[in-house]
Amino acid sequence: MTRAVDNLLSIVVLISGRGSNLQSIIDAVATGELPVEIRAVISNKPDALGLQHAVQAGIATQVVDHRQYPERAAFDAALQSAIDEYRPQLVVLAGFMRILTPAFVHHYRGRMINIHPSLLPEFPGLNTHQRVLDAGRQETGATIHFVTEETDGGPAILQAGVAVLPGDDADSLAARVLEQEHRMYPVVIRWYAEGRVRLDPDGRVRFDGAPLKRPRQLDSEAGAPC
Ligand code: GRF
Repeated sequence: MTRAVDNLLSIVVLISGRGSNLQSIIDAVATGELPVEIRAVISNKPDALGLQHAVQAGIATQVVDHRQYPERAAFDAALQSAIDEYRPQLVVLAGFMRILTPAFVHHYRGRMINIHPSLLPEFPGLNTHQRVLDAGRQETGATIHFVTEETDGGPAILQAGVAVLPGDDADSLAARVLEQEHRMYPVVIRWYAEGRVRLDPDGRVRFDGAPLKRPRQLDSEAGAPC
C-alpha cells in the first residue's frame, strides 16, 4: 500500500567509512523512490570515503572528529548540536562506528535507526561475519533497528537472511550481506516517511498501526507493494 507523502522526510546520515549504504540511500532518492531530503552527512572521521559520495551528490557534509574530544559525552554533545542544526526528522546510522551515550540515544528516541550485518539479537558488535563463520552458522543476514541504549540491541524493524556457503570467508560473506543491506534502508526509510513504522512508548515497533511481533523480512517485501 503506497501512501502519498506530502512533504519530504528530512534526514541526516551518520557515517564512519566507506558509505556504501549511504550511496544506496542517495540512489533511491535520486530515482524518486524515496520521498526524502538528505540534509547532511556527518562523519566522525575526516577521511571517511563516504563523505565523497555526499559531496558528489551535492549534500552538505560535516566532520565531528571524535579524537578532538577528551570524553565520549563531549563528543556526543558536539555531534548532537551538529545534527540538530539540520533539524532532521530521522537520523540514519550507516556504518557509524561509535558507541553512543544514553543521553544522546534518549534525545533521538524513535528518531534514529541503525543497520547491523547480522540477524540480531545474534552477533551484535564487531567482527560479525568471522564470528558467524566460527560459530558454524548456516544462515546470517542484516537487521535495521531503532537505536536504544543497548548497542545493536534496539527493536528490530526489518531483516534479510543470507545463506552461509561452503568456502565462505568473512569477506565473501560480508559482500553478500552488503548486497541485501543496500536494498534495506530505502525500504525502511520509506516506511518511516509514510508513517508506517514507529517506535511505541513501550519500546515496541508499531507497523501499520499494530505492534510488530517479529521483524519484517525483506524477501517477503520483494514484489509486494510498499
Ligand atoms: C555495514 O556492513 C553496516 O551494516 C555496518 O557497517 C558497514 C558499513 O558499510 N554497520 P558502508 O560504510 O555503508 O559501506
